[in-house]
Amino acid sequence: MAHRVVTLPGDGIGPEIMMPTLELLGRLGSFEFEELPFGGASIDLHGTALTEEVLDTCRRADAVLLAAVGGPKWDTTDPGAPRPEQGLLALRSGLGLYANLRPVRPLPALYDASPLRRERIEGTDLLVVRELTGGIYFGEKSRTDERASDVCEYTVAEVERIARTAFGAARAKVSSVDKANVLETSRLWREVVTRVHAREFPHIQLEHLLVDNAAMQLVASPRHFEVILTENMFGDILSDEAAMLTGSIGLLPSASLGDSASRAESASRGRGHAPGTRTPGLFEPVHGSAPDIAGTGVANPLAMFLSAALMLRHGLALESEAAAVESAVDRALAAGLRTPDLGGAAGTAEATRAVLENL
Ligand code: NAD
Ligand code: IPM
Ligand code: MN
Repeated sequence: MAHRVVTLPGDGIGPEIMMPTLELLGRLGSFEFEELPFGGASIDLHGTALTEEVLDTCRRADAVLLAAVGGPKWDTTDPGAPRPEQGLLALRSGLGLYANLRPVRPLPALYDASPLRRERIEGTDLLVVRELTGGIYFGEKSRTDERASDVCEYTVAEVERIARTAFGAARAKVSSVDKANVLETSRLWREVVTRVHAREFPHIQLEHLLVDNAAMQLVASPRHFEVILTENMFGDILSDEAAMLTGSIGLLPSASLGDSASRAESASRGRGHAPGTRTPGLFEPVHGSAPDIAGTGVANPLAMFLSAALMLRHGLALESEAAAVESAVDRALAAGLRTPDLGGAAGTAEATRAVLENL
């Protein structure tokens, strides 16, 4: 049976990187793609970034593939006006996707594309596990003429489940990142992570780092990290920073999973799941809609290709197809493919051709 995938090209470079990704996926299996308006594109059509219909269709899909949303056209500081990013937050929360996985694996072929020295990044292979449906992103907001506030809130249950995701993904070590010297939510975070570790994952090494120090260590000694476990906003910021270890934000994919989305992984291990009961995962690059280069044909499609690979692996339990995409990307880069963000001149079409030739 064909895998039913909802595709959300969104805004800016979104459609430019989504199109070649569907071509790539088409070479690997049988998919039924349903493309829907999302973000700014949906605001223009319906006045809201995520309609109920789109959310419902996503709920019934096997997986959701998203490119990027946002752009100057919809940038506003008016709290009453719709924003493309609201659609993304509503989709993540509406699908219950609390676990955002952002693998950062600099390729030897690209060591010299990073602004950091090769000796610094050699051997780095880390995973940012970002809590995605809580914290300051989702707390109550207020705004008057004179003041504004964003509440940061976490429950024990929210911290427990993301901690389990991180420990479950680690071979040897988890670095939990917080701001426990200042924030009450971070003190709760640290206590809960420590407890989950002691009770369920004592064989894994756990360290706690303050976020300012973690931001520094990430560029000073990235090899130090295996799994970085952190809350929503710290994870957002640290993952863009970590992207530069690979050479460009245009290379970083992500997978957002909920409880039942990880059931797809159980299915891949042979335990199966009841059809129709599972929440699909959402797969998207870490970068945004890059309005500064939209329409010029130079967007790097590799983060999008690698996000499709994560969809194949985590969302559809197609491990060998996922590995095929990743190795095609690796080989294209090893053979010299460089888009402008990596210091080269290849456009989106040329990059796509290079990857397809290596598939
Ligand atoms: P951005 O990630 O869109 O761009 C930052 C810089 O990186 C730009 O110079 C851009 O040209 C470059 N870049 C990003 N992706 C690239 C790619 N694939 N190839 C080559 N260069 C690439 O971040 P921003 O400029 O801060 O945000 C632009 C818009 O995107 C905003 O509206 C923001 O809210 C939105 N955004 C959306 C998502 C998402 O949809 N998941 C993520 C981040 C930002
Ligand atoms: C990301 C983006 C989003 C976030 C924005 C667009 C809401 O920056 O996916 O990293 O902050 O989560
Ligand atoms: Mn971000």
